[in-house]
Amino acid sequence: MTEQLLPTRRLGGLEVSALGFGAMVLSPGVYGEIDDERGERALLAAVDAGATFIDTSDGYGTDGHNEQLIGRALRGRRDEVAIATKFGFRLPDGVEPHPFPVGFAFGELAVNAAPEHVRGYAEASLRGLGTDRIDLYYPHFPDPRVPLEDTVGAVSELVEDGLVLHLGLSNVTAAQLRAAHAVHPVAAVQTEWSMWRPIDPELLAAARELGVGIVPWSPLGSGFLSGAVSEVKEGDFRQNAPRFAAANLKANNDRFAPVRGIAAELSITPAQLALAWLLHQDEHAVPIPGSRTPAHIEENLAAGRVKLPGEVLERLSAILSSTEVEGGTLL
Ligand SMILES: NC(=O)c1ccc[n+]([C@@H]2O[C@H](COP(=O)([O-])OP(=O)(O)OC[C@H]3O[C@@H](n4cnc5c(N)ncnc54)[C@H](OP(=O)(O)O)[C@@H]3O)[C@@H](O)[C@H]2O)c1
Repeated sequence: MTEQLLPTRRLGGLEVSALGFGAMVLSPGVYGEIDDERGERALLAAVDAGATFIDTSDGYGTDGHNEQLIGRALRGRRDEVAIATKFGFRLPDGVEPHPFPVGFAFGELAVNAAPEHVRGYAEASLRGLGTDRIDLYYPHFPDPRVPLEDTVGAVSELVEDGLVLHLGLSNVTAAQLRAAHAVHPVAAVQTEWSMWRPIDPELLAAARELGVGIVPWSPLGSGFLSGAVSEVKEGDFRQNAPRFAAANLKANNDRFAPVRGIAAELSITPAQLALAWLLHQDEHAVPIPGSRTPAHIEENLAAGRVKLPGEVLERLSAILSSTEVEGGTLL
């Protein structure tokens, strides 16, 4: 496979390809069928196609599965990419889970981001990833029982020691971003953002004002925006997501037909339009689409070179602002 250059973007002090790769899909129990051989192949397809920014978490898969897969696949190629990982979901025995509500059918998730645990989390992630540094390290969710400033203070000590190069935040409000940035400079904020999930305008404004990059998660709307999802099978977490319940999915697919029409007009795929649209929303946005399929990965990363005319962006903006999505939000 030939290496292709993608444009680069800055997330604070970190320079990465304009589109990264979200590795969550490479662990079992997320989007359905996957095995490690296929997962490693997909990851390398992303690197070969020019992605230099890999996103994972200690919470993806069981017992650090996702980080370990990345560590194995990148053996000998570690220096070609920046690795972002997140902490607080993989709790060792004896660490108390702190629950918080989410919009999935199962109702809640649990984290522990107390400062005394953060170094241990980082050491476990470094071991799993087989590396000596984490390029970008995020608390996966703000812990409802721990001030975010305390969690961030613990990450800043890891930065001083060289184990972590940059601080990120995930699933935070504008006020939390401002409070954390006052403790330690934040390079990037990760949030759900796509054509079917607008970003919180206050968060976007705060990130721009503070010079913080934005990493949109589920930039393909968990696959919906590719236009290829008409049903969700057993073993796929989207069975818990109200937007993918059969009747809602049908309605949502019908309502997004005009968006798919614009992709056809431009001779690009709906997935490429969704990613290019995000790239045009902010010069420091770096979406992280995930896929198990090398052809999809190449298709997605090629969106980093798509230029959308202003007139198309205006039409999309009009369509999206008047399109209601059935099924609420996930978080
Ligand atoms: N911070 C957080 O709380 C949080 C939450 C969720 C996700 N994330 C991050 O965001 C990353 C991406 O999110 P995501 O994986 O949930 O959603 P996504 O990237 O929006 O969508 C992934 C889904 O889209 C499908 N897909 C990808 N490209 C396609 C294409 N060109 N054509 C057709 N189908 C395509 C994939 O299936 P195939 O495998 O069949 O291609 C997969 O089912 C994750 O890997 C994770 O790193 C972070």
